[in-house]
Amino acid sequence: MATTSGDTTDRVTPYAVLGELTHRCPLRCPYCTNPLLLDRAGEELTTNEWKDVMDQSVQMGVLHFHFSGGEPAVRKDLDDLVEHAAKIGLYTNLITSGVLLDEARIHRLSALGLDHVQISFQDSDPEIGDWVAGRKGAHEKKKRVAGWVREAGLPLTVNAVMHRHNLHHLKDIIQLAVDLDADRIEVAQVQYYAWALRNRAAFLPTREQLDESVRIVNAERERLKGRLSFDFVVPDYYAQRPKSCMGGWGRQFLNITPSGTVLPCHAAEIIPNVNFENIRDKALELIWRDSQGFNEFRGTSWMREPCKSCDRREIDWGGCRCQAYALTNDASAADPTCAFSEHRSVLEEPLQEANKPAPKFVYRRYGN
Ligand code: SF4
Ligand code: FES
Repeated sequence: MATTSGDTTDRVTPYAVLGELTHRCPLRCPYCTNPLLLDRAGEELTTNEWKDVMDQSVQMGVLHFHFSGGEPAVRKDLDDLVEHAAKIGLYTNLITSGVLLDEARIHRLSALGLDHVQISFQDSDPEIGDWVAGRKGAHEKKKRVAGWVREAGLPLTVNAVMHRHNLHHLKDIIQLAVDLDADRIEVAQVQYYAWALRNRAAFLPTREQLDESVRIVNAERERLKGRLSFDFVVPDYYAQRPKSCMGGWGRQFLNITPSGTVLPCHAAEIIPNVNFENIRDKALELIWRDSQGFNEFRGTSWMREPCKSCDRREIDWGGCRCQAYALTNDASAADPTCAFSEHRSVLEEPLQEANKPAPKFVYRRYGN
């Protein structure tokens, strides 16, 4: 892959596409990061349109295709899409809540060429898991689905979204992944965009919880070396430097919404006055290469101080543009989770709230 500079003529190639097949979802997770305005079923790309997206992706050099949502298994043509992706040589990953899958469908998906499955778990405790997911019986169903995934010979990743209501179960959640024979666990803190932002006070952990979780992950990583691999995303409100979101805007990833809007990340549409184009109107490669949306924050030429002269500017790319906008109303500001940011003080209030009793959260619902 070529490296970027501030000059957008120095091109890069995406290696992964995340296809949000639908926003429909049987769960109601309050930390949902899908947009506030969800796409309706009637607006979704058709089977042939998704196949065309995959063909174009391969022509551009994309290697991975993630089937995501909402819940991708809502789409009856998921099997057909997986088969097509596998045939044209894409590495396929299904990101699912699991609750709509049955044994026969998992074996069918495996036979059609699915390469990998990621299942989200809300907790190790069924009661808390079902409470956060907003669906009774969800936790037990997920465990059964994980078993079928492994029986079908598919590698499994457990996605564990962590927050103040479940961090005290972190060790048990890691053990759950081991018991489910997962290969990998993603221990990810809630990211506060879209719907999740309104529930921030209910989920942001305390500093003590975070320190304890770092200690647990480090110890478990050592204990389970060679057995379970870890991805650990810490809550960046406590960080000194921001994460390199998406590996940099328009450098590695493409995200396609259910109705075909092509984005550099799943939350990008919250940023106003940036034009994100639709795959129904233009070729994928042209959107990736030439569109205003992809070039707006690509490279470093858009940066101002403190990022502009910072020696980390091509490491974290100024952090997350969506978080910068969500917290400062200015998408070209340094991410406030950076200690050099002039807006760092916007984190004080939420961090104080984290030490108060958690308020009730508001569930997400397809339709609200
Ligand atoms: Fe990253 Fe900008 Fe902070 Fe430097 S000043 S560490 S480039 S966010
Ligand atoms: Fe959009 Fe980070 S989520 S740039």
